[in-house]
Amino acid sequence: MNILTFDSGDKLNEAGANIIAGLIQTQPTAVLGLATGGTPVGIYERLVSGFRRGLLSFRGVTAFNLDEYVGLDRQHPQSYYSYMQKHLFAHIDLPAEQAHIPDGNAADLQAECERYDRLIAEAGQIDLQLLGIGHNGHIGFNEPAHALIRGTHVVDLAEETRKANARFFGSADEVPKQAITMGVGTILKAKTILLVVRGADKADIVRRALTGPITTECPASLLQTHPHLVVLLDKDAAGRLP
Ligand code: GLP
Repeated sequence: MNILTFDSGDKLNEAGANIIAGLIQTQPTAVLGLATGGTPVGIYERLVSGFRRGLLSFRGVTAFNLDEYVGLDRQHPQSYYSYMQKHLFAHIDLPAEQAHIPDGNAADLQAECERYDRLIAEAGQIDLQLLGIGHNGHIGFNEPAHALIRGTHVVDLAEETRKANARFFGSADEVPKQAITMGVGTILKAKTILLVVRGADKADIVRRALTGPITTECPASLLQTHPHLVVLLDKDAAGRLP
């Protein structure tokens, strides 16, 4: 595990964007796993800026997003489809057919999960999986549980997750109750995992995830078993590490 701590959010974003851009520059057909949430916004901004300056092209890239809410219209401003358009996809040359997000409005959600896993398998291994972390240790939307599911599946969101994401909606009641998420098996199969965390409110979960027991009650703790884990922290998120 390689933990890098930055004294500013700007430097952290720059480091994250450089790692992703470097991969695409050396491997133009890279398969990326992408994340949503507040954390990666600044990284996406810098990737867009790199693209605009002609430093990189996403033409050969294939991307798989981690998750999507169930039952939220794709055009809803808080759908992860809208998020990805707004922060990345609408501004770069990644062909739409190479940008995958689970369809949370599929009539048959189980079939959609199987379709998503098939697409990932067909693309081969995810080269780099970008990840954030929830306050309860969730990755993607894999919530703490007695057992975790390997592949893409429908999950009931934890109350604390719905509360945390209420800031993006009008109120916690408007946050969908379910999501489709890539499973931890798929996440852990990525060649490299880039975990990005910022803010003092995440300092406790960062300590638990990176130095605590490896347990499904803290899904991010499973990342400790990954051979190529890179962790980017701002100094606040790193504040409780030994
Ligand atoms: C969200 C997403 C996760 C994200 C996490 C943290 O609900 N499903 O992929 O990493 O929670 O989000 P944030 O970066 O906004 O703190």
